[in-house]
Amino acid sequence: MTKMTAFAALSAFALTAGSAFAEPKAEVLHWWTSGGEAKAVAVLQQEFAQRGGTWTDMPVAGGGGDAAMSALRARVLSGNAPTAVQLKGPAIQEWYEEGVLADISDVAEEQHWADVLPARIADHMKCDGHWCAAPVNVHRVNWVWANKAILDANGIEMPKTWEEFNSAAEKLKAAGITPLAHGGQAWQDATVFETVVLGLGGPEFYHKALVELDQDALKSDTMKAVFDEMRTLRGYVDDNFSGRDWNLATAMVMNGEAAFQIMGDWAKGEFLAAGKTPGADFVCAPTPGDAGFLYNVDSFAMFKVDGADKQEGQKILAELIVGPSFQETFNLNKGSIPVRTDVSLDKFDDCAKMSAADMKADGENGSLLPSYAHGMALRGAQAGAITDVVTAHFNSDMSSEEAVQQLATAVANSM
Ligand code: BGC
Repeated sequence: MTKMTAFAALSAFALTAGSAFAEPKAEVLHWWTSGGEAKAVAVLQQEFAQRGGTWTDMPVAGGGGDAAMSALRARVLSGNAPTAVQLKGPAIQEWYEEGVLADISDVAEEQHWADVLPARIADHMKCDGHWCAAPVNVHRVNWVWANKAILDANGIEMPKTWEEFNSAAEKLKAAGITPLAHGGQAWQDATVFETVVLGLGGPEFYHKALVELDQDALKSDTMKAVFDEMRTLRGYVDDNFSGRDWNLATAMVMNGEAAFQIMGDWAKGEFLAAGKTPGADFVCAPTPGDAGFLYNVDSFAMFKVDGADKQEGQKILAELIVGPSFQETFNLNKGSIPVRTDVSLDKFDDCAKMSAADMKADGENGSLLPSYAHGMALRGAQAGAITDVVTAHFNSDMSSEEAVQQLATAVANSM
């Protein structure tokens, strides 16, 4: 062995020994299990591995994350929290109040998050003034997705009002086509409901009803009209909608088994993962009413864990998540847009560009609103109270009068 190679071998040994000592580890709880979601989270796994990290995957299937949140509760209660958890909105604060979240301010400050994140979103990531979560993206919830060939064949334009939506649906129904692909799960009912609240009531009404929980708004004639529209929409879904996963509803639109789906832009992740092209195979438009932007920001919170290896893993994950390269690649797969304001949208499609432009405009005119259905607006108890009524109404013949009464009472009791 020459001097040089002996030296190289020695340094290689030192490096391996050093990295083996603090080898970053992370057990990551998330609910990204559909085609598009899995492709997106794989980007984070790869980047983590490139930094020498070992990732233990803890996927808990179930759109909207209800099952994942139950799994999280069980783990934290047993004193064995995962390293990093997909967590959003007020739930971050709720877990912080339990005293179980780690402070990630060191990474946030080192990486200048305050300079690259919109202030409104940064607020969701802070607990008592320090950083406690890392944001991944901005999903828009109020989107309608449509099968382009079906629209063209039936002479239908993307509906701009709920009235237009209903007449398009009647036309499709008469032609033997299922107008609305829907999965009958409570969170999906809630997703449709909040877009109808926004579309029929407008941004101010949405805020009063679903953010401030104003009793007059909850009991108003406008809210009755929202439940009337929900009843009408119930007539546009197929017989097998009950319990269907959201991505299977997206597949119905993709495969020409249904015309429309009302769903956040993670649905676009599914279209893209299946090789479909926006504008050619499918069309996106804001939900009828065309005013306002319901945002849903995915983020990860780090839980307090023992062990230098896991703590190192948390630092690396937090850094990667908000890093510009991950923000681009992840969001190209996920259907969302980067949360960083300095990432170029050159590689993104027109739906994403529309999302970014609307977010900016709605941010300026007060109509950028947190999604209640996706855990951005309310604490768990209040959101749950609303969703219970929405789903009970959708799955029965409850009148709109009864629904608003139940809604107002359920909300009051949840406070
Ligand atoms: C999450 C998305 C996810 C969707 C379906 C939403 O609440 O924010 O990231 O793709 O649920 O599971």
